[in-house]
Amino acid sequence: MEPIIRTYNLSKQYGTHLAVKNLNLNVNRGDIYGFLGRNGAGKSTTIRLILSLIKPTSGYVELFNEKPGIQSFARIGSLVETPGAYPNLSIKENLEIQRQLLGINSPIAVTETLDLVNLTKDEDKKASTLSTGTLQRLGLARALLHKPEILILDEPTNGLDPAGIKEIRLLLKRLSEDRKITIFMSSHILAEIQQLATRIGIIHRGELLEEIDYEELKRKNRTYLEFKVSNPVRTTWILEEKLQIKDYSVHEENTIRIYSHLENSSTINRILVTENIDVSSIFLNEDNLEDHFLKLTSEVKNHA
Ligand SMILES: Nc1ncnc2c1ncn2[C@@H]1O[C@H](COP(=O)(O)OP(=O)(O)OP(=O)(O)O)[C@@H](O)[C@H]1O
Ligand SMILES: [Mg+2]
Repeated sequence: MEPIIRTYNLSKQYGTHLAVKNLNLNVNRGDIYGFLGRNGAGKSTTIRLILSLIKPTSGYVELFNEKPGIQSFARIGSLVETPGAYPNLSIKENLEIQRQLLGINSPIAVTETLDLVNLTKDEDKKASTLSTGTLQRLGLARALLHKPEILILDEPTNGLDPAGIKEIRLLLKRLSEDRKITIFMSSHILAEIQQLATRIGIIHRGELLEEIDYEELKRKNRTYLEFKVSNPVRTTWILEEKLQIKDYSVHEENTIRIYSHLENSSTINRILVTENIDVSSIFLNEDNLEDHFLKLTSEVKNHA
């Protein structure tokens, strides 16, 4: 795994308020990293710190395994504020200006990038006439023009309607899959992160509560039937051979979690008992990601 963004005890204080506390983030090449947190959690502050737009109070950032500098910033594309554009110029002209500002020689970069964000057919539309979603894609086009290796996006779907949100989601997925661009994006909407992220960091009141691969999180939060049994080894044999159940995991204290056949707890129990296994408890765990997120960020658990 190649580290792209690492933060080390990164902190930012405003007056007496610690907006970001000892953050240790790990973003690896190829990740679509969903940085999830409620309003005011510290997402934008963290992103500004990563981009060196503000100075940390303590701690530091590494980009591409190095201290951030011109070299690393040139490999990053970002979209932090709502993107502005010259209102009387077309989409293509706006991007053309960006190309010249960046000193990119090839004019093809503009047409290629327009194509990448699905704006070719709208390229002659004036920026002043664009919907928020289209403006957002123009912002992404600008961030992508110099072919960055990583995109850093602060709430890229904020203010968009469901169609616009879906469009951005598909676009980001495509950038990740086809162009292998690493994506770091913040959001306060779990569902959005859930549909896109390969890795999730949860920030709450400036603190990173959890950082986890999405697949692992899903596994951790899958609905399952849990049996506490006298003989786990024999039980797994019975599950596989007598019940054709393969999707299970064995845990501490003689417990086995079964992720399929959730409606058949009594049948499973009966068969285990006939096979001389003592079952001391059975329960259905229906925790989902939303519960997990709410539990992590509930005010009861995390006082200021
Ligand atoms: N320039 C600033 N001066 C003082 N306080 C600030 C400043 N910027 C942010 N804060 C405070 O730091 C905390 C974190 O703010 P931040 O904007 O990073 O949160 P966020 O997670 O991006 O929230 P949102 O979902 O609303 O965008 C908030 O309490 C905010 O009021
Ligand atoms: Mg913010």
